[in-house]
Amino acid sequence: METVVSGIRSTGKLHLGNYYGAIKNFIKMQEEYNCFFFIADLHSLTTHPTPDNLHGNVKQVVVEYLAAGIDPEKATIYVQSDVPEVIELYLYLNMNAYLGELERATSFKDKVRANPDNVNAGLLTYPVLMAADILLHKATKVPVGKDQEQHLEMTRTFGNRFNRMYKHDYFPEAFAFSYSHNLVKIPGLDGKGKMGKSEGDANCIYLSDKPEAIRKKVMRAVTDSGPTEENQVKPVEIQNLFDLMKVVSSADTVAHFDDLYNKCQIRYGDFKKQLAEDMVIATEPMRSRIEEIEADTAYIRRVVAMGAEKARESAKRTIKDVREIIGFKEF
Ligand code: TYM
Repeated sequence: METVVSGIRSTGKLHLGNYYGAIKNFIKMQEEYNCFFFIADLHSLTTHPTPDNLHGNVKQVVVEYLAAGIDPEKATIYVQSDVPEVIELYLYLNMNAYLGELERATSFKDKVRANPDNVNAGLLTYPVLMAADILLHKATKVPVGKDQEQHLEMTRTFGNRFNRMYKHDYFPEAFAFSYSHNLVKIPGLDGKGKMGKSEGDANCIYLSDKPEAIRKKVMRAVTDSGPTEENQVKPVEIQNLFDLMKVVSSADTVAHFDDLYNKCQIRYGDFKKQLAEDMVIATEPMRSRIEEIEADTAYIRRVVAMGAEKARESAKRTIKDVREIIGFKEF
C-alpha cells in the first residue's frame, strides 16, 4: 500500500484554504492509503517561536483534524516534535542541500520580503525539514495545496541526491496530490492573493468561525461597481469570489450568478449573501464538532500518544536504514 504524508503548521485556526487544499483530500485518502497526518510544530518555530503560541495552536490543529473527519483508527495523527527522528534525518539531508537552491525557493523569498528582520536559518532550511517529514515514512503521495508544489520538487531533489550519493535506491519519489488533479489554490477575501493566516483575519474564513462572523467577512469582501458590458472578463477580486463559490456552492448556483454577471444583472449583495450561506452550510458539521472535541482533552492526548507511537515505529525503521547506508559504525 502506498504511503501518504502531509502536515499543517500549528500557527492558528485552520481556514477554508487548509480544508479544500489539504484536509478534504486527507479524509478520502485515509480510506485508501497508509496515511500519516501531522501537526508541523517544528516548522511553526520559524515564525512562531514562543511557548504560549505553541501549546494552544498544536491542540487546535489536532482538534480541527478530528472535527473535519480524520479518523485516528484509520490514519496516524501525530505531533512532529513527538518524533525526534525527523530532526536527525533533517540534519543528514542538510549536508546535501545547497545555499543557492534554498535561497531560490519562492516561500523563502516571500518570507524574507514579508519579514526582513527575521531571516533565520530555520526559514532557509524549511524545505529540508519538509523533505525529512516526507522521506521519513518513504511516502509517495503528499496531499497539499498549490503553494507547496515547489517544496515537493525540492523533496524529490533531496531524496534523489541522497540515493545517488550513497548509490542506493532507497527513497521513493513523492508527488503533490489532489483528487481534483489540479492542485487547489483557495483565494482570500481581500481581492488579492490566496487565503492565508499571514494575510490577516478578515481575509480568512476559519472552520471554527460562527455563522455571523462568516456573513460579516463575506459582506465586507472587496468588489467593484459591477460589470458595464455583457460577457465582460471578471476582474481578479470578482473572479476570486466566484472561485470561492465554486468550492462551497452547487454548480447550478455558480451558473446562475455567472449568467447574471454576463448579462450585467448581478447584484453583489445577493451574490455575497448566497456565498456566505453556502460557507455556513459547508463548515457547519465541523463547527459543532470542534467545540465538542476541544472539551475532551483526555481523548486528544490519547490520539496524539497513539499517533506518536505509530509514527516513531515507522521513523525508527528509516533512521536505522539511513544510518547503515551513510556508514555509521555500530561497535
Ligand atoms: P501550511 O500550514 O501553510 O498549510 C497547510 C496546508 O494547507 C494548504 N493551504 C492551501 N491550499 C489551498 N489554498 C490556500 N489558500 C491554502 N492555504 C494553505 C497548504 O498547501 C498545505 O497543504 N509546509 C507546509 C507544512 C508541512 C508539510 C510537510 C506539508 C510541513 N511538512 C510535509 C506536507 C508534507 C505548510 O506550511 O503548510
